[in-house]
Amino acid sequence: MLSFEGSEGCGKSTQIRLLKERLENEGREVVVLREPGGTEIGESIRHLLQHAKEGHSMTPETELLLFAASRAQIVREKIRPLVERGVVVILDRFLDSTTVYQGHARGLPLDAVNAINRFAIGGTLPRLTLVLDMDTTLAWQRIHATGRELDRMENQPPAFFEKVRQGYLALAAAEPDRIQVIDASAAPEAVHEAVWEKVAARLA
Ligand code: TMP
Repeated sequence: MLSFEGSEGCGKSTQIRLLKERLENEGREVVVLREPGGTEIGESIRHLLQHAKEGHSMTPETELLLFAASRAQIVREKIRPLVERGVVVILDRFLDSTTVYQGHARGLPLDAVNAINRFAIGGTLPRLTLVLDMDTTLAWQRIHATGRELDRMENQPPAFFEKVRQGYLALAAAEPDRIQVIDASAAPEAVHEAVWEKVAARLA
């Protein structure tokens, strides 16, 4: 079980797709799960968090608990059974997103965030977490260049994403064995090679 993390615009979806294809070419069964979401309950929570009109008045505390609720469900309904079957599970965000977005960026107390995270995952931790790191301004420009309508999170000011970035770097420094940082500013193929090196070493 691996997780990918990073701020908006870092190229996470592309990297997850490239890694899935490569692992499948090697004969492995791979399932990608998306956070928040990935279960029926989780997709409803995702809608509330990202698009629903009533989400606009959401407090940071509610936001934290909704992300944790979605995760508690996916861990028990999907992740654990897949891992037990020997499937490689790639998580598009996991507990570190909560630590960084709700803790470091929204400013909720980290001890509360960590306790809620621990309760939600119940000991199910990724063997490897890859943080796709890039300059915040560049990532911001990438999202805005898409021209599509931005969701509640993507509409945060650049300072918010700088806190997200610094939060990830602090986590990686605190847990260097599990959390590894990858420079995501290079071309997608080059970033993929860096991802592959770390994943292959961990799966070996
Ligand atoms: P994404 O799936 O497109 O990356 O969007 C998910 C958004 O939700 C993204 O802005 C990060 C945010 N998020 C949190 O704030 N906390 C969390 O725990 C998770 C999983 C995501």
